Amino acid sequence: MPYAPFVPLRVLSSYSMLEGAIDPKAIAKLAKDRGFPAIAICDRNGLYGSAAFATACRSEGIQPIVGTLPPLSEAEWQQTFEKYQLTPEYQLVNKGMGLDEFKLIFWWEYWHRLLGRLIGVAFLVPFLWFIARRDIPPSHALKYLAIFVLGGLQGAMGWYMVKSGLVDDPRVSQFRLTAHLGLALAIFWAMFWLALSLVSPRRAAVPGSLRKWAYGIVAVIFVMIMSGGFVAGIRAGFAYNTFPLMNGRFVPPEIFSLDPLWQNFFWNMATVQFDHRLIAWLIAALVPTLWWKLHRAREIPGRARWGGHLLLALVAGQIALGIATLVNVVPLPLAALHQAGAVLVFAAALNVAHALR
Ligand code: HEM
Repeated sequence: MPYAPFVPLRVLSSYSMLEGAIDPKAIAKLAKDRGFPAIAICDRNGLYGSAAFATACRSEGIQPIVGTLPPLSEAEWQQTFEKYQLTPEYQLVNKGMGLDEFKLIFWWEYWHRLLGRLIGVAFLVPFLWFIARRDIPPSHALKYLAIFVLGGLQGAMGWYMVKSGLVDDPRVSQFRLTAHLGLALAIFWAMFWLALSLVSPRRAAVPGSLRKWAYGIVAVIFVMIMSGGFVAGIRAGFAYNTFPLMNGRFVPPEIFSLDPLWQNFFWNMATVQFDHRLIAWLIAALVPTLWWKLHRAREIPGRARWGGHLLLALVAGQIALGIATLVNVVPLPLAALHQAGAVLVFAAALNVAHALR
């Protein structure tokens, strides 16, 4: 059998964790017995394996839920589904789910992972190409490399996040979900900032106070998005579905009902949602103020001026979308639009900050 190159196989741990079934030594023996040529790095957390390993797993019916290859026949689907039925997520949350429904959630996860890997390749191949042609100055190359490393970390983080939904408490932890979102945003931040710097390398002479305002708003929007991660993570959008009041009160009395106090900020739906609203109010005050300052400033780049209009409009739209998501009890299309809107708002704030840097 020809040598199978290494492929990322960030998948082993679902089974190693659930069943303790994947023991690298046993797999190595299995591969040897069956004539598979290579067993590569195959650590307990399952970050890497080899295609040979994947084949070994598949032929033994111990293919993890989401491997590099999806199940290819009805029998394989059935087998994968049976594995899933052993998980706490199936037992506690999705009990009774049929094979068709399972396929649906399988494909969502599968494409998400494949897309992640594809992005890695789409980044790395041109990067190496341009390096080989010496088109990228070394100082920039390091920055691109750092972004690539962050992308790899995001993959690991994604796995760590999913793992939290596979153990006894079958929900993705709100902390890991938010960290995954935060890292995605940090990668976007780095790439967008670099791209803007390539398009518009010259710095403008602008008042320092305006710059501080713009940077401050970027930071507040970042925090807002993290707060949104917690709202989604503990499903706080399914409670208090009225605006502007929460169950008839501006500040619901139960916001400090958990002890110790700090837990309320991460586990209490009332507090988590209240914080999200509070930061929205803050943004609703800060962004128009920045817009007004930009409007009155004399010598600022045109990009900062139109960027200010765009930011104002996007923030208004985002707040309206958030309220619509909430009062309609989180329908998926609105929630997804609200999530995408957050990235647009963040990009618009970065654009203004970059123009004023
Ligand atoms: C600048 C303003 C806002 C930003 C940047 C923002 C950002 C976000 C983000 C990033 C999420 C997480 C989405 C996810 O991971 O699925 C989220 C969730 C949410 N936000 Fe906002 N938000 C804003 C304003 C608002 C407002 C004003 C409300 C309503 C009062 C609101 C209600 C919600 C709800 C209900 C969710 C949970 C959706 C779910 O469970 O999927 N947001 N927000």
